[in-house]
Amino acid sequence: MAKEPQVLIPGTEGLVLGCDYNPEQWDPAVWEEDVRLMTEAGVSLVAINVFGWAQIQPAADRFDFSGLDRIIELLHEAGIGINLGTGTASPPPWLSARHPEILPVSADGLRAWPGGRQAYCPSSPVFREAAARLVTEVATRYGSHPAVRLWHVSNELGCHNALCYCDVSAEAFRGWLRAKYETLDALNAAWGTAFWSQRYGAWEEILPPRRTLSSGNPGQALDFARFSSDEVLECFLVEERILRELSTIPVTTNFMATAHIRTQDYWQWAPHMDLIANDHYLDHRLPVPHQELALAGDITRGLAGGRPWLLMEQSTGAVNWQPRNLSKAPGELLRNSLTHVARGADGICFFQWRASVQGTEKFHSALLPHAGTESRTWREVLELSRALQSIKEVVGTEVVADVALIFSWEAWWATDLDSHPSEDVRYLDQVHALYRALWEAGVTVDIVAPGADLSGYRLAVVPSLYLVRDAEAAAVSAFVEAGGTAVVTFFSGIVDENDRVRTGGYPGAFRDLLGVRADEFFPLAAGGRVALDDGSTGRLWTESIEPTGSEVVASFTDGPLPGRPAITRNRFGGGTAWYLGTALDGEHLRVLLTEIAAEAGVTVSTTPGVERVLRRGEHGDFHFIINHTATDHTVALDGYELVTAQPVAESLTIPAGAVRVVRAAESEK
Ligand code: GLA
Repeated sequence: MAKEPQVLIPGTEGLVLGCDYNPEQWDPAVWEEDVRLMTEAGVSLVAINVFGWAQIQPAADRFDFSGLDRIIELLHEAGIGINLGTGTASPPPWLSARHPEILPVSADGLRAWPGGRQAYCPSSPVFREAAARLVTEVATRYGSHPAVRLWHVSNELGCHNALCYCDVSAEAFRGWLRAKYETLDALNAAWGTAFWSQRYGAWEEILPPRRTLSSGNPGQALDFARFSSDEVLECFLVEERILRELSTIPVTTNFMATAHIRTQDYWQWAPHMDLIANDHYLDHRLPVPHQELALAGDITRGLAGGRPWLLMEQSTGAVNWQPRNLSKAPGELLRNSLTHVARGADGICFFQWRASVQGTEKFHSALLPHAGTESRTWREVLELSRALQSIKEVVGTEVVADVALIFSWEAWWATDLDSHPSEDVRYLDQVHALYRALWEAGVTVDIVAPGADLSGYRLAVVPSLYLVRDAEAAAVSAFVEAGGTAVVTFFSGIVDENDRVRTGGYPGAFRDLLGVRADEFFPLAAGGRVALDDGSTGRLWTESIEPTGSEVVASFTDGPLPGRPAITRNRFGGGTAWYLGTALDGEHLRVLLTEIAAEAGVTVSTTPGVERVLRRGEHGDFHFIINHTATDHTVALDGYELVTAQPVAESLTIPAGAVRVVRAAESEK
């Protein structure tokens, strides 16, 4: 007998539909209608008390849980699970008024004022103590409440306050450095302080990388980024320890992977979570926002070690914080949501339930818009709810991928430091470029940390991994040696973990694997383009590549290095390692990566704009097909289509803009 699929959150069932709910913004008379409509929409998990601090602790020595008690009971009576915020997301005015020293300070010494949110220094012992006191109260009161399914620690930790340069942070930074280096000699060596007379003679001399006249010390900047991620993680851990002592309910917090926020190294955070939760908003500043949505889903699944995860927030339509806040087209909400499910989400939650009428988020979309239930949004929410019901048997299944892309927050920090060969080489752009090419080739990608075991994959992609440890580079070599295929792109392998250049020729750590050696970089001028003899074009970068055993696949025909190799391929052990010495233009990159992937035995597709992902489990193989195009698209498949509840014989047409989920025939019981 087949086992029941494992649900993501104990006490829930099927695919979760959920939302943030801020009842403190509403008259209690509205609460009952809210709960009734939540039931109508099939909402099964509600995050409350996320910004509740000022409500439940109106003064330093006073707690008032009456409102929260009532809300919890209302939700409980309706059978709705609770994702209970610890309430520490934003300190109330009384705390910063009493303790202005908790307010964070910027790199040029400016202290932020209260009045927004998250205005605290992550290293502040005063803040941590106040947060710990609140969490203790909340966990004591609700830690075994039958409606509480999940602990939602704080909110998007480090979203606004990740980097604080105040004196308290400086002291904490010194403590962190002492623990890491033990001796000043070791620190001076790691930071290369022989340069510009920067040598430290006492720990007290060391500061955070506050604003300097000239460029600062890169080693200091990199360690400060690591320290800052650790400090914010410590804010999570302070709460987590209390919750584990007082409650057995699973603990998590909402990550912000990926988009533009890069301050947290979530590879370090992930092991502390009972389940991985992510927030995702379409970024309309990107050329194709839904490609980045897919990447964010894949990163989140990578953090979850391939297991299902929870989308803790997305929007039904517009947000309020982009320069122009675009709404979603009809059907886009369903496509976005089921893309997250396709990529491993077993729950889809939203910010927020009811659109605010006050505050800076009053023009942010919600499940229940200002217009009420007589609205397109509400109808699409009900449609999503039905769709999640009809595909619920995918719960617990896992995404199948033959390709790994190595992604590193540390390399992101290091690559984007100043004083580099070209300010146009930005880490995330390079990740997006390679991911986009694979997305367009219909290839599902697992996102893995540097050093991950790659043995289950056919192809490993390494975008501009400027900073890499010896062992991390060796993991790529071992994979290729054992028969795998790797694609490494320019500005990879350049420095070690201390941002110290690997000498003897570029690309340092990957020289042997790639069979190339370059003695000089030749980045292009702003907006520059370079042509290759295979008809492709590149941007940003060239370098004087000398093959040392590799085969030249394409050479530059113009630019600073006409006639010199641009793309090489090297046999290494039983496998093949490709090097791309320029940023190939999108279409050329897509064509090349499609060929390389196909050669490596990866299934590729040539229908641009149609996304296909396979989730597999004991209950079957589930093919997600998301048609982002304006034309219908037909795929060859046999089985049963779950969204429309139709048998599929041989082929299925996915209407323009629609999503279908097919349980494959061979996997039907
Ligand atoms: C983040 C926060 C929410 C809300 C939304 C708006 O995800 O966690 O509180 O501000 O952004 O998009």
